Amino acid sequence: MAISHPSFGTIDDKRVIVFDTTLRDGEQSPGFSMNLEEKLRMAEALAELGVDVMEAGFPIASQGDFESVLSIAQRFAKDGPVVCGLSRSAPGDILRAVEAVKPAARQRIHTFLSTSDLHMRVKLRMSREEVLEAITKSVSLARNHVADVEWSAEDGSRTDPEFLCRCVEAAIKAGATTINIPDTVGYAVPDDLKRIFTMLRERVPGADGVIFSTHNHDDLGLAVANTLAAIEAGARQVEATINGIGERAGNASLEEVAMALRTRADVMPYTTGIVTQNILRTSRLLATITSFDVQPNKAIVGRNAFAHESGIHQDGVLKDKTTYEIMTPESVGWSTNSLVMGKHSGRAAFRDKLATLGYTLGDNQLNDAFRRFKDLADRKKVVYDEDIVALVDDEVVRAQDRLKLLALTVATGMGTRPTASLAVEIDGEKVEAVAGGDGAVDATFNALQQVVPHQATLKLYAVQSVTGGTDAQARVTVRLEEEGKLVDGQGADTDTIIASARAYVHALNKLLAKRSRTAPPEMMRSA
Ligand code: KIV
Ligand code: ZN
Repeated sequence: MAISHPSFGTIDDKRVIVFDTTLRDGEQSPGFSMNLEEKLRMAEALAELGVDVMEAGFPIASQGDFESVLSIAQRFAKDGPVVCGLSRSAPGDILRAVEAVKPAARQRIHTFLSTSDLHMRVKLRMSREEVLEAITKSVSLARNHVADVEWSAEDGSRTDPEFLCRCVEAAIKAGATTINIPDTVGYAVPDDLKRIFTMLRERVPGADGVIFSTHNHDDLGLAVANTLAAIEAGARQVEATINGIGERAGNASLEEVAMALRTRADVMPYTTGIVTQNILRTSRLLATITSFDVQPNKAIVGRNAFAHESGIHQDGVLKDKTTYEIMTPESVGWSTNSLVMGKHSGRAAFRDKLATLGYTLGDNQLNDAFRRFKDLADRKKVVYDEDIVALVDDEVVRAQDRLKLLALTVATGMGTRPTASLAVEIDGEKVEAVAGGDGAVDATFNALQQVVPHQATLKLYAVQSVTGGTDAQARVTVRLEEEGKLVDGQGADTDTIIASARAYVHALNKLLAKRSRTAPPEMMRSA
């Protein structure tokens, strides 16, 4: 049965709405915070991926969150996905979210309140009747401002079923158009989800006029399975994140849900608007921005997801790919022709290659990226797609950085104390420093400490190779901690020391951005 929705018009019953919360639930996990420019880039990529709703942030959480949601709403003022702002049930929260999403062509307010006995008693200190009243008031207030209102029952999967029905009924009566039942703590199993959605759809008056939504955390590794079970039981919106990032063990991974639906359409005949060929580049962009790589064996987007190592498998795939491949690597954006140009390739070929990898750069960025590509091709025998992706992401993501590495020379050898001499640009001004250290990396980091004095301590230093071979680029991750705040930086180069310096500079840029963001201390973040 088709349903009518204020943002989507008449929706076919087989269509599943994809609600991306990478920029909200995903961003609020430790180490994954993004600055405004990074969020805008991610928002752009999510729109190109075809998400229907983008939860852009939690506007009351901080001035920075408010501004990010506002900027994303301004970006999608003419068209694009529905832009959603999260809010608790207090009027001030809701009005702040309304203000933030206002410029968007299509706006949604997502308001939530805990409904489990445990949360109501310990966290809210509210009775059931008070919670019901708050649901009615908050949803009505949101509906006075926007037509598209989502209401969530926080800790819904652990809520008494009778009471959950009453809460959902109150939310629908007050005008909610989407009802989300989160498994906030990742406790549910697929049967629970089936039971909950079947019950709500059968028992709650008005259930056939709203869209039911599922939001699952991965504490037991069941988020995707639970999401699919909810769809089977009638949920038609899935809340998910790229690479499955999110509170604690994360949320359901958007790419896994989308590809499960597409690959197993024989048993799950549902459609989404996801442009699956854009999955890999969206995943990589997020990894570059946040400096958190996905694990190599991660489904769909992990480095090994389509790699066949054993002889028996390789033999089978060479004879017929379907022997061991249930979906094609190209369908999610992996390129079959991973070998690319060398040092004789021109600017036009480079631009073409970028287009096939899904990048469109402005002239200045293209020039900078091309210069770095030429430099890389001079030092490396073969340049793979992975190298280009690492290089371009580095370039694009760093475009707004306040601090830039201009030059670095390190003198080292057996029996000598290594010395690093470097030049950086800080807010457009060139600064130089020289420092010694216990090793080449230590000397480089000491020199950087001189140009940007800070109290941060180094928590992690990790080196990974982007491809194989001794001329491969090194990708370095540096994690710094300052006053309890963690930031990760990444840098890539064929020279490990330069990659290390880039990673450290990236992390320092994030620290600078964090210092300028303010958050009210009493703000309590929700899962
Ligand atoms: O996990 C959760 O309960 C949430 C809600 C705010 C939807 O993220
Ligand atoms: Zn959540």
